[in-house]
Amino acid sequence: MIRIQPPLGESYTNASLDDLDARIGRARQRLGDSVLILGHHYQRDEVMKWADARGDSLALSRFASASDTAKYIVFCGVHFMAEAADIITRPDQQVILPDLNAGCSMADMADTEDVETAWNDFSQVADIDRIVPITYINSAASLKDFVGRHGGSVCTSSNARAVLSWALQLDRPAGPDRGRKVLFVPDQHLGRNTAYQLGYAATDMALYDPRMDYGGLDEQTIKERSILLWKGHCSVHQRFTVDQVNAFRQRNPEGIVVVHPECPHEVVELADAVGSTDFIIKTINEAAEGTAIAVGTEIHLVNRLANEYPEKKVESLDPLVCPCSTMFRIDPPHLCWILEGLVDGEVRNQITVDEDVADGARIALDRMLSIS
Ligand code: 13P
Ligand code: SF4
Repeated sequence: MIRIQPPLGESYTNASLDDLDARIGRARQRLGDSVLILGHHYQRDEVMKWADARGDSLALSRFASASDTAKYIVFCGVHFMAEAADIITRPDQQVILPDLNAGCSMADMADTEDVETAWNDFSQVADIDRIVPITYINSAASLKDFVGRHGGSVCTSSNARAVLSWALQLDRPAGPDRGRKVLFVPDQHLGRNTAYQLGYAATDMALYDPRMDYGGLDEQTIKERSILLWKGHCSVHQRFTVDQVNAFRQRNPEGIVVVHPECPHEVVELADAVGSTDFIIKTINEAAEGTAIAVGTEIHLVNRLANEYPEKKVESLDPLVCPCSTMFRIDPPHLCWILEGLVDGEVRNQITVDEDVADGARIALDRMLSIS
């Protein structure tokens, strides 16, 4: 999706970090409780230090909806997170994304029209009423709307297991009543890793490639497989490899490996722990002093953890740095530009989701919140 962020003026681009810090601090003070700054764990430190609340995507959605006083929610994260916040916050609250180009390449891999085409394909060969669409929160609001209107739910990396169990009715005894199947969009890895955790086998899953007719699948496969995975991925997490795990273990036989579930299954299988960004932080916090820990997630979070826990040996699983280039777009000049605009009474970069789209998306998000 193309969103255009106009270039900032020289008073922002030429300013030193110290100057920007002083200006952000002044604006922040003037705005007081009317502003809530949210920071996703992948944000750079120069931005993160201004966050009133830090978290993974689920926690940040909850902070946004729980805020009583904030009129402006400045979301230091990526576009889909700001959209989700707009959907679940009150109508009098305005959600702001400091740089409009901060998207998510994975979310962009699931175009809503392509998902509608897939749905149409499935309806021709399978009982569509028994397919439940699940979208990872890393998706456009229009896709969440589609999912909400078709009886499905959103999930995040911290509740994918609960949401998939709900969709597949795993609380019911096996038998004809249970035969529901799932379309999981857009991250094939989160879908596959969660399905394996629930006891499904590779032969229960199929990969739908939106660039091919019928997703590259035959009728039999669509009919028989329980879990239809969308061919999307995160370019940051897909880089982690089995060789990296083996190399770390060779150097650190007592060490532990903790990874995000957006990593490929072969890596997840070898890891000691797998979970959301919040889970990764908790795991490192609880590890014994001196433990060597290789982390398979975005480098800004890994570096922050390495600094915060110097008594543990925290390193990236990938020796070659892997930043999320879209998260990285949020920087002190953009944050300063947003806050100084608010001081002047100008709301810049507001993210609004049309009400007709927000209705279905809210159903899908509320379903997730009630399941988890
Ligand atoms: P979390 O929900 O774990 O914060 O992950 C969001 C994300 O974009 C990971 O790439
Ligand atoms: Fe999207 Fe990957 Fe960046 Fe997360 S790390 S925001 S999934 S591109």
